[in-house]
Amino acid sequence: MIPKRAGSGTEPATDRYADLQRSLTGLFAGENDLIANLANLAALVYHELPDLNWAGCYLLRGEELVLGPFQGRPACVRIAMGRGVCGTAAARRASVLVPDVHQFPGHIACDSASRSELVVPMIDGERLVGVFDLDSPLHNRFDATDQAGIEAAVRLLMQACRSSS
Ligand code: SME
Repeated sequence: MIPKRAGSGTEPATDRYADLQRSLTGLFAGENDLIANLANLAALVYHELPDLNWAGCYLLRGEELVLGPFQGRPACVRIAMGRGVCGTAAARRASVLVPDVHQFPGHIACDSASRSELVVPMIDGERLVGVFDLDSPLHNRFDATDQAGIEAAVRLLMQACRSSS
């Protein structure tokens, strides 16, 4: 595994997300392929944000979510709409922030180390593309700054991929 950058946990979260947006703007420049851009988004988020054990996406395929590009341990492949944190965010078309996954009914434990989770839907106009999921081994790892930062990152992704098939 590639070691995470030392010291990334000391930077204020708002600065960290401003850096993330700048890096994403560069990575997505001139590229509209959804899978390629998702792969770079997952890699950047996983390596730049502290205290994560998984970052990546599930893509809507018919009526279910199917695993897409990610960083972290192997994960469950298919999630039904409305199931788990990912399926809940997809069904609601709204972000779901879970401070303690053990208190979320129906949470799907892909990695027993996960303690908290943030899932953001990826929506292109009216079309649900999938969800972007972050897991942490820390209880209550994510807050409103993280939610706003990841939502902004997903908006950049959707803009970059707008003309992608
Ligand atoms: N915990 C998620 C499943 C996906 S993994 O965390 C990678 C859920 O409850 O939907």
